[in-house]
Amino acid sequence: MSFKKKIETTFLSLIIGFFTFSQYSCNEQQKPEKKDSVADIERRVDSIMKLMTLKEKIGQTVLYTTEHDVTGPVIDKNYLNYLKSGGVGALFNATGSAFTRKLQKIAVEETRLGIPLIFGYDVIHGYKTIFPIPMGEASSWDLDLIQESARIAALEASVEGLHWTFAPMVDIARDPRWGRIAEGAGEDTYLCTRVSEARVKGFQGESLNNQETILACAKHYAAYGAAQAGRDYHTVDISKNTLHNVYLPPFEALAKAGVATMMTSFNEINGIPATGNHYLLRDILREQWNFDGFVVTDYTSINEMVHHGYAENLKHAGELAMNAGVDMDLQGGVYLEHMEASIREGKISEERLDEAVKAILKMKFKLGLFDDPYKYCQEEKEKAVILNQEHLEAARDVARKSMVLLKNDNAILPLNKEQKIALVGPLANDEYHIIGNWVAQGDRNGTAVSVVEGFKEKSIDFNYAKGCNIENELVDFSKAISIAKEADVVVMVMGESERMSGEAASRTSIKLPAIQRSFINEINKLNKPLVLVLMNGRPLDLSDEVRQVDAILETWFPGTSGGHAIADVLFGDYNPSGKLTVTFPRTIGQIPIHYNMKNTGRPADIEGANERYTSKYIDAPNSPLFPFGYGLSYTKFEYGKPELSNNELTADQPISIKTKITNIGERMGEEVVQLYVRDRFGSITRPVKELKGFQKITLEKGESKVVTFTLSVDDLKFFDDHLDFVNEAGEYDLFVAGSSDHEFTNSFSLVLK
Ligand code: NOJ
Repeated sequence: MSFKKKIETTFLSLIIGFFTFSQYSCNEQQKPEKKDSVADIERRVDSIMKLMTLKEKIGQTVLYTTEHDVTGPVIDKNYLNYLKSGGVGALFNATGSAFTRKLQKIAVEETRLGIPLIFGYDVIHGYKTIFPIPMGEASSWDLDLIQESARIAALEASVEGLHWTFAPMVDIARDPRWGRIAEGAGEDTYLCTRVSEARVKGFQGESLNNQETILACAKHYAAYGAAQAGRDYHTVDISKNTLHNVYLPPFEALAKAGVATMMTSFNEINGIPATGNHYLLRDILREQWNFDGFVVTDYTSINEMVHHGYAENLKHAGELAMNAGVDMDLQGGVYLEHMEASIREGKISEERLDEAVKAILKMKFKLGLFDDPYKYCQEEKEKAVILNQEHLEAARDVARKSMVLLKNDNAILPLNKEQKIALVGPLANDEYHIIGNWVAQGDRNGTAVSVVEGFKEKSIDFNYAKGCNIENELVDFSKAISIAKEADVVVMVMGESERMSGEAASRTSIKLPAIQRSFINEINKLNKPLVLVLMNGRPLDLSDEVRQVDAILETWFPGTSGGHAIADVLFGDYNPSGKLTVTFPRTIGQIPIHYNMKNTGRPADIEGANERYTSKYIDAPNSPLFPFGYGLSYTKFEYGKPELSNNELTADQPISIKTKITNIGERMGEEVVQLYVRDRFGSITRPVKELKGFQKITLEKGESKVVTFTLSVDDLKFFDDHLDFVNEAGEYDLFVAGSSDHEFTNSFSLVLK
């Protein structure tokens, strides 16, 4: 018997457990689902671990990129050699059934133990069918829809051999200069938590063993969004109050909801890089939250601890990371190169390495890879699943529900199909940028629907001219002016390029590029009704445009079916219902600005305040241009005063809040009904208001509905100065409205016995 055969036989007999193990045969038909119990998995993992050499164990903690996609600065082209010698446990940036199958075959057939690989990828807002960027999707406030878009993304990715997405990004993002604001769910902790839970449900489904589901990854742990000055990868210096009350809760919720993996962030937090942060990774994540998955670094973030000035050299950095609780090294090669020596020298214990390897192998079992390592390579299904009609329709629906109508003077929208329309602007006939940044395998050339195509589908009379490029020059300018002169209404599709948001795309200005502003100025001189359609990945400073145009529709980067979705909204085939998840400032000088700021000792709006010595700017109001939660509809909603079931909230007696909402406009519409609460004072100061609930409802013309929220003591807890998660007795105010910008209408007391 050959050595390999011998090993296989021993291996098989040890891991078989209760199961019949068909050694990695190509599985054409999906096997019936088999859910291993936790104990079964533990037993099977233990039996494999007994066979593994130290080198093989280290190999499981190593993740490398292939050359199929580039998502970071370093590509170590030796991944194939490492793989063959058992030095790689997972790969990313490898796509397509044929390619992933080929690589899996190497792992299974050419390594001593044949342990299958996990394939990861940044499937952020769709795989080939691209949905709106996450900030856009979140603006729908529609959790079922968001879950469904993640489910479709997982389905498309999983038939191409992928098991793992590096999503969702659950970083709270309050700085519009930071390009990655596009990738999250905005500035609010409660909303981000709900949206992130929906995304994880969509990716992971009911069982990871199902071929159509993939591992999710909550990232970037932690506080990546609090980068100083909005500059990507920058220092984070944050109070414990803000860290625990604002930035950590979405991670906690996902750890508890069973997210499979977490990714550490690039940044340091109060002097300690997240990737070497024992407090975050061990004390909080494992000890307090009982996180049961594995922790991966961000791209070379172990190595970067040397640049941070926290590690002396790479070996030291690896020790800091492993000892802090990082299980897998993404692209750094540090574990592969230095871990053995660190273990030999006693700098890392073998028990700690075992813990990491176990967590990784457990996921491979949960995915069913030991029963069939090729089960996700579904060549024969790819065609039927990828970009199918159902997915394109879903993308259209999510896109239109994500759009936010920011302004609509004189009800200029929806457009009348009989009007003569001039369609201009750099993004009007675009199929490249419309799908946004981080598009996995999304096609930028030929698959996405431009606004021009969307208009054509509506069979309306319109003329098109570009007018200018996104960033630098006028193009077809005279034609644009002349068609605008002839038109009843001008629709301008403007915004950012896809490269202007996302990773490593921070901006010091959040205005539209200068050439576009000049172009708008010229069009504005024609005195025509103007509609501005925006595509962008961050809140923009629209102070000038808001004065110049009659209507503004924020479409984010709406994805593959974006042009259809925009036309649906502009022509009234869909009534917009999106609401902002991030504040739009009037000027960059207001940053940081978010709806749930703290008060000061000298609030500007306090009655009887001395006008001069209050907390304000001398050259701009404190208020934003568009607040969190804001968004218009083609109809109007009237809110009644909330009715409270009781005025005292106790541990045994939650309060129910009933509010009647009536559609008083001329057509059916959807409304995001939002509940905000203020804790008047506390042992640490409290935000001026906090979102505590929301519901999206549909109302026919003239229809009323009573929306009920329930508040319990748990909803009012916060981390105090000792980091105890507490309730504090006292007075609270609330309101229910269609935006965060509203007066309080009711109050109640929290009584603790
Ligand atoms: C760096 C990014 O920060 C992270 O979000 C991503 O998942 C990795 N690169 C892998 O591409």
